[in-house]
Amino acid sequence: MGDALRVALAGLGTVGGGVIRLLDANRDLITRRAGRPIEIVAVSARDRTKDRGVDLSRFAWVDDTAALASHPDADVVVELIGGSDGPALTLARTALDAGRGFVTANKAMLAHHGLELAQKAEASNAALKFEAAVAGGIPVIKGLREGAAANAIARVYGILNGTCNFILSKMEAEGRDFAEVLAEAQALGYAEADPSFDIDGVDAAHKLSILAAIAFGTQPAFGDVAIAGVRHVLAADIAQAASLGYRVRLVGVAEEGPHGLFQRVHPHLVPLDHPLAHVTGSTNAVVAEGNFVGRLLFQGAGAGDGPTASAVVADLIDIARGEYGASFAMPAHELTAATKADSGERRGRAYLRFTVQDKVGVLAEIAAAMRDAGVSIESLIQRGEAADGGVMIAIVTHEGPERAVAQALERLRGSQSLVGQPLLMHILG
Ligand SMILES: NC(=O)c1ccc[n+]([C@@H]2O[C@H](COP(=O)([O-])OP(=O)(O)OC[C@H]3O[C@@H](n4cnc5c(N)ncnc54)[C@H](OP(=O)(O)O)[C@@H]3O)[C@@H](O)[C@H]2O)c1
Repeated sequence: MGDALRVALAGLGTVGGGVIRLLDANRDLITRRAGRPIEIVAVSARDRTKDRGVDLSRFAWVDDTAALASHPDADVVVELIGGSDGPALTLARTALDAGRGFVTANKAMLAHHGLELAQKAEASNAALKFEAAVAGGIPVIKGLREGAAANAIARVYGILNGTCNFILSKMEAEGRDFAEVLAEAQALGYAEADPSFDIDGVDAAHKLSILAAIAFGTQPAFGDVAIAGVRHVLAADIAQAASLGYRVRLVGVAEEGPHGLFQRVHPHLVPLDHPLAHVTGSTNAVVAEGNFVGRLLFQGAGAGDGPTASAVVADLIDIARGEYGASFAMPAHELTAATKADSGERRGRAYLRFTVQDKVGVLAEIAAAMRDAGVSIESLIQRGEAADGGVMIAIVTHEGPERAVAQALERLRGSQSLVGQPLLMHILG
């Protein structure tokens, strides 16, 4: 049995507490699997007096979180604070510069600073691991980095935010509107008090940019992700989608093509015969398409103390075994700066929902905008009263260039016939 891997733990909230509980519960098994014990030696958070439901008296308490990076008794620093910059980034930089292994669940920091941190890890030959940063407990990073390492990946996509999926599933099951379900999700602890990162798609975009870097060998490019969240999806859209044979899901898609790397997080219509349509509640799922392995589906709990701690400790086990390679599946200098692909080049089908004034000529105005932009309409459904007094018109387009749909919407911008903004959802092909 080797010497213990000694861990300094920064952040003792949901995930940090989970890591302590998991290491306590599965200590013997983990020791046998890792070939050596994994022991927390020092911890840090903001408030030393907070009761966290775990015995912290056996660990050294460090007031200055940044000092964990140079703690004399630690081999590895685990960062579970969060935030793209601030104390998490200071800790990452100093730990990696000092040659310490670094494990994090912090997708925001990796999306913004992943390349720099990977370069630092390589320069000092230290481990940089972040399985928990994407889809919580699902081993999708390991799956892509190791299991699918022999494949060229054409596309990686999935449901990457449990809060949005919980809300959309509940809206569908109960026919209720977004704001009402969000309030309930907050009361149940499924959504943050400030839910904007989740519901506006930013959290999913952080994760997508990390997945894309691993899948395509590109530098993480969060700024290139086109993002739209779920706050404008109505119960009526979900009902309409259901009647057409689809479910509404917030899907992140990254795809490499002749025009570069395309990355988008948007609400999509997912056909009922697609596995993502059956991912309900706060579950996450990722699909990767490899040129030899075919379609891989990873599914499971995308958040929560247990699943997220499971991923963090799996990283620690890899480090204890000495089994860690390049963070983004290839050396940092091999990661290319991706060209951002313009969505207009893509072809696909789309769902468009308009709320319009109940007056003569509105339908003709919308149809003319579609015709003039070259959008071919597959079906058009007009429904009675929408919530805000207008009439709802839903259109499904035939497959065509996304540019044409964007142009049609541009033609209708500012039209006196429209009540509020139209909603565009792409149909997952
Ligand atoms: N929760 C999940 O299900 C989940 C899933 C996947 C990934 N993640 C990621 O895991 C990380 C941690 O998330 P979490 O849910 O565990 O967060 P959390 O419950 O809010 O816990 C954050 C911890 O960080 C500490 N902290 C905050 N600011 C600090 C500062 N300036 N200096 C020192 N410590 C500070 C807090 O200290 P006090 O307790 O003293 O206030 C707390 O212990 C984030 O990057 C998150 O995105 C979370």
